[in-house]
Amino acid sequence: MDYLARLKQAAETLKELGSPKIAVVLGSGLSHILPLQGERKKGFREIPGFPQPTVEGHTGEVAVGTLGDREVLVQRGRLHYYEGYDLAELVFPVRTYALVGVKVLLVTNAAGGIRFGFFPGDLVLISDHINFLGANPLRGPNLAELGPRFPDMSAAYDPDLRQLARQVGAELGIALKEGVYLAALGPSYETPAEIRAFRAWGADLVGMSTVPEVIAARHAGMRVLGISVVTNFAAGVSPQPLSHEEVLAVTKAKAAELGQLLSALIPRLPC
Ligand code: HPA
Repeated sequence: MDYLARLKQAAETLKELGSPKIAVVLGSGLSHILPLQGERKKGFREIPGFPQPTVEGHTGEVAVGTLGDREVLVQRGRLHYYEGYDLAELVFPVRTYALVGVKVLLVTNAAGGIRFGFFPGDLVLISDHINFLGANPLRGPNLAELGPRFPDMSAAYDPDLRQLARQVGAELGIALKEGVYLAALGPSYETPAEIRAFRAWGADLVGMSTVPEVIAARHAGMRVLGISVVTNFAAGVSPQPLSHEEVLAVTKAKAAELGQLLSALIPRLPC
């Protein structure tokens, strides 16, 4: 079956769960932060055509339920380029959501802090990104049914949604910083020299996800809001070596706050 036919098949399956206009991708260690009312869900393996997740601890399921008066789709667990997927497979879930009718995509991730003044535990609104993966999920024949050949990326992270997030954050007393996210391939963490180079390019955060999904979402005309949890100083920013355990521990410590922010934000989204 060709790619577009697989997308349509997966979309038909997800439509059995509902017709959400909002989707949330929850990154590493954040799977549980958004409980939904009346939740119906399917594992990635139960959705025909969906790529299969590989990394342990990433559950890989799609749930639909309500939050306030909004129907929301939540993807728990995500695919990473370093796992070996082609980018077209990696963005398959997001493209399926577009066919289901999703108009707003919220993406979350754990990231290393590059900018001086970013600390582990900070929540950061992504203002823009740098694609350092050396690849683009839209490579190959354009899927004109989804979007244009050359999509504009000049306001990829919706300014109005960021403003709304800042407002909700202020009301809840949740501090939000703002910065540029650079996607690195991983799975090795970066070297200090790479981080210095990325800083000179204007990157404030570094991680191994998000950018392909955002490119695919913008191609399909979705509005995007991205939020990073800074889990560690990027390589060389502090003398401390980087560890996945540290990343998980800081994510865990900030998960409740991020869940609170998203729960308050989602009912106020303009769609
Ligand atoms: N680098 C890349 N990805 C990450 C990091 C980092 O420092 N922290 C969390 N994800």
